[in-house]
Amino acid sequence: MAGMKPWIDLSGKVALVTGAASGIGRACCAGLAEVGATVIATDRDAAGAGAVADCTPGAHAHALDVTSDAAWRECEAWIERTFGRLDIVVNSAGIVSSDRVGDADTATYQRIFAVNVEGSLLGMRTALAFMRRQGKGAIVNISSAASLSGASIMASYGASKAAIAHYTRSAALETVRAGHDIRINSVHPGVIDTAMADDFCEIYSVLGSKEAVEQKMSTGRFGTASEVADVVVYLCSDRASFIAGTGIVVDRAASA
Ligand SMILES: NC(=O)c1ccc[n+]([C@@H]2O[C@H](COP(=O)([O-])OP(=O)(O)OC[C@H]3O[C@@H](n4cnc5c(N)ncnc54)[C@H](O)[C@@H]3O)[C@@H](O)[C@H]2O)c1
Repeated sequence: MAGMKPWIDLSGKVALVTGAASGIGRACCAGLAEVGATVIATDRDAAGAGAVADCTPGAHAHALDVTSDAAWRECEAWIERTFGRLDIVVNSAGIVSSDRVGDADTATYQRIFAVNVEGSLLGMRTALAFMRRQGKGAIVNISSAASLSGASIMASYGASKAAIAHYTRSAALETVRAGHDIRINSVHPGVIDTAMADDFCEIYSVLGSKEAVEQKMSTGRFGTASEVADVVVYLCSDRASFIAGTGIVVDRAASA
């Protein structure tokens, strides 16, 4: 109705999304732009981030490998020069792989923790450099429902996602106790139909094809990236003003 305020309005806010070239990150770019945010789509896949920015109103693209401290420093300086502020960060870049504790596969552990854990940590550090100065901001870290229970054939992935959830709680306590209106939360999706779901199905190939995996799930279907993005956008908005230091599971009761 004309004259009514939208339920969520992020106009004037600058929002950086990592892993924006695909899946949940891409859907978060679309969702944040839809409610007025100026989106910075980042990914190690620079062309993919560019393509997302091209079809997202008002968006910018920036190449960013989240494992690189130097790349984050460069990105931070570019944001300072270009926008002078940063209000929202969504740490979505992530990788999945299969490993078991008994195999002591340290190469897989290091690769997964570098992207999923260190990448999110550097993202939070960059966000906080702006948000502490502004006294306000919102960060959402994409963890996983896999952080909630043991995953015998994705041990390092599950552990990395649990580490993200723990860093989220610690960071939220840090900012709230410092008196800042900076809310940091995690989102824990179940299986979502993105490129990563193909990797997941390969890991669980014993269950059969992708369709067979989907049918065997209690949810009856995979979630969609936009079903996760809707929760992320909500958490980034003042509608979630009293939600900080927690995780929201988006898995249609799969882990209930
Ligand atoms: N799809 C699922 O079922 C599911 C479930 C739970 C959690 N998640 C989490 O959601 C997040 C997004 O996953 P998705 O399903 O959209 O996967 P996706 O594979 O579709 O997208 C991941 C994106 O991250 C980017 N990326 C990977 N390594 C990077 C790096 N070092 N630096 C920058 N970008 C990098 C990739 O280029 C890609 O664009 C991940 O953190 C994932 O662990 C996914």
